[in-house]
Amino acid sequence: MNLKTIVMVASMIALPVMAQEEKPVYLDTNKPIEQRVEDALQRMTLEEKVALIHAQSKFSSAGVPRLGIPENWMSDGPHGIRAEVLWDEWFGAGWTSDSCTAYPALTCLAATWDPAMSALYGKSIGEEARYRKKNVLLGPGVNIYRTPLNGRNFEYLGEDPFLTSRMVVPYIKGVQSNGVAACVKHFALNDQELNRGTVNVNVDDRTLNEIYLPAFKAAVQEGGAWAIMGAYNQYKNQHCCENQYLLNDILKGKWKFDGVVVSDWGGVHNTMEAIKNGMDMEFGTWTNGLNWGASNAYDNYYLAKPYLDLIKQGKVGTDELNDKARRVLRLIFRTNMAKEQHYGSFASPEHALAGRTIAENGIVLLQNNKNLLPLDLKKYKKILVVGENATKRMTIGGGSSSLKVKKEVSPLEGIKARIGNDATVTYVEGYASPAVAEQDVKGAKAQVREINLDAMREEAVKAAKEADVVIFIGGLNKNEGQDSEGADRKGLELSYGQDALISALAAANPNLAVVIISGNAVSMPWVKQVPAIVEAWYEGSEAGNALAAVLMGDVNPSGHLPFTFPVKLQDNGAIALGAYPGTAEQETYKEGLFVGYRWADSKKIKPLFPFGYGLSYTTFAWSKPTADKNEMSADGTMTFSINVKNTGTREGKELVQLYVSDLKSSLPRPVKELKGFSKVTLAPGEEKTVSITIDKAALSYYDDTKGEWIAEPGKFEAIFAASATDIRGKVPFELK
Ligand code: BGC
Repeated sequence: MNLKTIVMVASMIALPVMAQEEKPVYLDTNKPIEQRVEDALQRMTLEEKVALIHAQSKFSSAGVPRLGIPENWMSDGPHGIRAEVLWDEWFGAGWTSDSCTAYPALTCLAATWDPAMSALYGKSIGEEARYRKKNVLLGPGVNIYRTPLNGRNFEYLGEDPFLTSRMVVPYIKGVQSNGVAACVKHFALNDQELNRGTVNVNVDDRTLNEIYLPAFKAAVQEGGAWAIMGAYNQYKNQHCCENQYLLNDILKGKWKFDGVVVSDWGGVHNTMEAIKNGMDMEFGTWTNGLNWGASNAYDNYYLAKPYLDLIKQGKVGTDELNDKARRVLRLIFRTNMAKEQHYGSFASPEHALAGRTIAENGIVLLQNNKNLLPLDLKKYKKILVVGENATKRMTIGGGSSSLKVKKEVSPLEGIKARIGNDATVTYVEGYASPAVAEQDVKGAKAQVREINLDAMREEAVKAAKEADVVIFIGGLNKNEGQDSEGADRKGLELSYGQDALISALAAANPNLAVVIISGNAVSMPWVKQVPAIVEAWYEGSEAGNALAAVLMGDVNPSGHLPFTFPVKLQDNGAIALGAYPGTAEQETYKEGLFVGYRWADSKKIKPLFPFGYGLSYTTFAWSKPTADKNEMSADGTMTFSINVKNTGTREGKELVQLYVSDLKSSLPRPVKELKGFSKVTLAPGEEKTVSITIDKAALSYYDDTKGEWIAEPGKFEAIFAASATDIRGKVPFELK
C-alpha cells in the first residue's frame, strides 16, 4: 500500500487520523494532566468514550486499547485488598497469590483517635492495592453511625462528623500517595442496610450538612479524593447514584469535586438520570444474561449501549459524555498513567506490623475493677479462655469487605503465644453460632453442626471454677444479622446465649475479663458482675497478637469509643422516636442533629459507655484549662490549653477532647459538639501542655434558610473532656 491508499483506508474506517507525532501529549507525563486529558479525549471515538464509563467485568472497566490507555481495576476495601474474583462472578478466582494483609476494621481505626494511625493505614493498604495492580480502592466508608443496628457500622468511622472528618483525610492521602484512588463511600445517607436499595431518606438540610456530609466534604476538599461511590438508597426521591442534588449541585457544584463518581454495584437504575445527574462510572448492574444482556451483559448497562443509542438518535448530546470521559481519563492519568509510578508491596511483615500497631492503639479498655488487667502471670497460673470469638475467623464474611488473608492470628493463638510457658491456657468454646458457607467459594456449603448452648455453658462454667482467671471472648461476628452487609441487627443484645453465659462465668469465677469483638455497640446486662471489659473490634491479620499485648500489659490501652454504647436500644434517638427503620420506601431522620452523644446530652440519658470513653493502665491528672484570649474575632482563632500529667507508673497515652457549646443561639443546637482532640504520650511523671486551636468554623451551624454556615456572635464555652460525659474543665469565651 502506498501512502495515498493508507490515508484513504483510514478515512473510510472513520477513526480519528493521527498524524505522525514524536510523543502524543496524553502520553507525555511531563505535561499537565488537564492537557493530557483534552488531548486523549479529542482522539477518542464516541464508542471509546462510552466504553470508559461502565464496567467490563465485576471489578474492572475498559481503557482505550487503541491508544494504549489502560483499564481501571477496582478492589474492596476498606480493610484489605479483596481476593481476585472470576471475570463475571462474585466468587473467588482461586488465585494463589492474592492473600492480603487484613487491617483492623475502620471502627478500630476511629477508636485510635490518631490521624497518624489513619495515615499509616492508608499508606499501607494503598501499597497493597498498588502491588495487586488495582488503581481504585473501594473505601474508606464514612457513613455516620446513626443506630447501633446498622449491619455495616464496622466499615465506618463512628458517630461524630468531626472525628470522622479528621480520620478520613489522612487515610485518603495515604492511599493516593501510591497512585491509587481512594473511592470514598457511600455518598450519602446509606446509614442502614435494611431496605438500602429502595428507601428514600428524608432529612432536613441542616442535619444533612452538619452531620451526614462533613466527612465527605473533608474527603473531597482536604483529602483530595479522586473517586466517590454513590449510595444505594434514595434522597429527595432519587437514587443517590443519579441524584441531581447530591452529585451535581453539592459534590461537583459546591465542592468542586473533579474526580469520578462510581456507582455502588447495581446502584444505577435509569439511563437518562444517570447521564444528567452526575453518575460517571456504572458498576455491578444486574442483568440476567438471558433475554437481557444475552451476548455481553455489560453492553446492556444503562451507561453502555442504551446511552450510545440515545446519542446516535440525537436524543442527548455529548456534553455529559465528554465530562464523564474527562473524569475517567483524569483518574487514569492520576493513577495508572501518572508521572510518578509506584509498585507497592504486599502482605509484608511491615504491613502486618502496621495493622498490629493500629489495632493496639484502637483497643478500648472499658472497665477494669480491682485492676484485673493487665493479667499478672505471677499470680494467675491457670488461664481459661472461653468463647467462640477466641477462634473464629473474622476476616471472612460480612459482605464486600470479606478478605482472603495471608494470616489471621486468632485471639486464642495470640494469647497462647504470648503466655508461652508462664501459665497454662485451656480453651472451652462455651457458645457457638450457626456455621455459614464460605462467602467467596462457589457452591460452598456450611458445615452443619449441632449446637447445645446449655451443655456448652455448663462445660464452660465447670472449667471456670477450676481456673485462676477467665478470659471470655465473644461479641458479634460477620454472620448475617450481626456485623454484616445486607442486613441490620435485630437488637442490641449479644446472640447465642452469651449474656447468660457471661453471668454464669462471673458467678463461677470472680476473675473474669470480658472481651467484646464487634463493630457495633452491644448491651451488657452483666456489666456490674464482671471486673474487666475490653472492646477489641475486628483487628484483622494481627488480631490475636494485638489483643494479647493489651491483656498482658505489653501495650497500655489508649483507644476511645468512636460511638456511644447505650444501655438499651431505646436510648438511641432514632429508635426512641420510631424513626428507624421506617418503611421500604421512606424513612425520616426525626432525631435530626441529635445523633449519638448529641441525643444522650440533650435528653440527659446516661450511656453504658459514652462516646470518647476509654481507660488506661496508668492515671492522668488534668490542670485547669486556659485560653490565649477572652474573645474570638470573626476571622481570628483561639487557642485553648490544658496540662496533662501521667500520675501512674507506666507510660501511657491520654486523649484530650475539646467540645464547644453555644450558650445562646437563635436555632436549637446540641449541648456540645466535638471540635478538637489530641492524643499525647506521657512517661510516668511526665507533664505536657495540650493546645487546641479553633476558628469560627468550630462555632458555626448550618442555616438552612440561607444555605450557609453561620457563626453567631455571643457567648460560648470550650469544654475539655476525657469523654462525652467526663468533663474536666470549661473556658468561657465570646465571639465578637
Ligand atoms: C457495596 C460496596 C462495595 C461493592 C463492591 C456493594 O454491594 O455496597 O461497598 O464496594 O459492593 O463489592
